[in-house]
Amino acid sequence: MKSPFVLASGVLGTSASLLERSARAGAGAVTAKSCGPEARAGHANPITIPWKDGFVNAVGLTNPGVLEEIGVLREARERVGKHDCLLFASVFAPTARQFGEVARKVAEAEPDLIEVNISCPNVGSEYGTPFSGFPATAAEVVRYVRQALEGTGVPISVKLSPNVAEIRSIAKAVVEAGADAITAINTVPGMLIDAYAGKPILKNKTGGYSGPPIKPIALRCVYEIAQTVSVPIIATGGVASGLDAAEFILAGATLVGVGAGVYLGGAEIFGRLNQELLAYMAEMNYGSLGAFRGKALPGRSD
Ligand SMILES: Cc1cc2nc3c(=O)[nH]c(=O)nc-3n(C[C@H](O)[C@H](O)[C@H](O)COP(=O)(O)O)c2cc1C
Repeated sequence: MKSPFVLASGVLGTSASLLERSARAGAGAVTAKSCGPEARAGHANPITIPWKDGFVNAVGLTNPGVLEEIGVLREARERVGKHDCLLFASVFAPTARQFGEVARKVAEAEPDLIEVNISCPNVGSEYGTPFSGFPATAAEVVRYVRQALEGTGVPISVKLSPNVAEIRSIAKAVVEAGADAITAINTVPGMLIDAYAGKPILKNKTGGYSGPPIKPIALRCVYEIAQTVSVPIIATGGVASGLDAAEFILAGATLVGVGAGVYLGGAEIFGRLNQELLAYMAEMNYGSLGAFRGKALPGRSD
């Protein structure tokens, strides 16, 4: 890949031309908005509220449904490919079985990777809580997806939530079930209340927090996952500078996702992130990302 930076799912990922903007600006891969079995209107407004350098959102996985999304992905693949950029698709579903069905359909668009979004805090699942909450439910989804994708050659990355007691056990379970990579993290569940109106601000009442304030939470998750499994990690959460990315790579990440950072800096942020990361590497005399990947992990930093 020309760059380790990845446009995170759900942020500027709803159309081929928006995905191309990040590709043109220097992203190494772009992730489309998560799509499900059928069209979803998502939650009513307000859905995204800025708060202290970040955002609380409850978009509710608005998407046109997998059949229409295949067309978007095919067009996106062509457009981002012109910029030497990979295309990642993203899938979700209300049941583990349907995760497999959606993934199989999405594979027809031949994305370079399918992200399996089991961790959105704003939608339900057949178990009530997100599938990412427990090793058994997370692994069940991965098994269905793995089976459905047999013979396609499309790799999968499973997207985890920080909102769990023990992220290591979830990471281990999804890798044992066949995940090729892990994306960590999705948003941190939260909410905002209007003191004068006396009620929650988001129409959905609760949402997910993202942006620079969640970086310490995401770093801890990546650091723990990297010590537990050996698959590549797409580290996502609070990245807004090249130094942020360097910290995630030091914690063991292979790629670095950018979500809210794109709201703060526009798609053009990818050019700046590449430059800042290269400047850090030059300053530190690192000739490649591999030269410092995982350097902050126990046993490597002393
Ligand atoms: C408005 C918004 C919509 C999002 N939609 C999705 C989505 O459709 N699928 C998904 O896997 N993650 C979604 N996310 C989560 C991001 O991909 C990312 O994991 C999270 O925001 C943390 O990264 P950040 O701090 O860089 O934003 C969304 C985030 C935001 C802010």
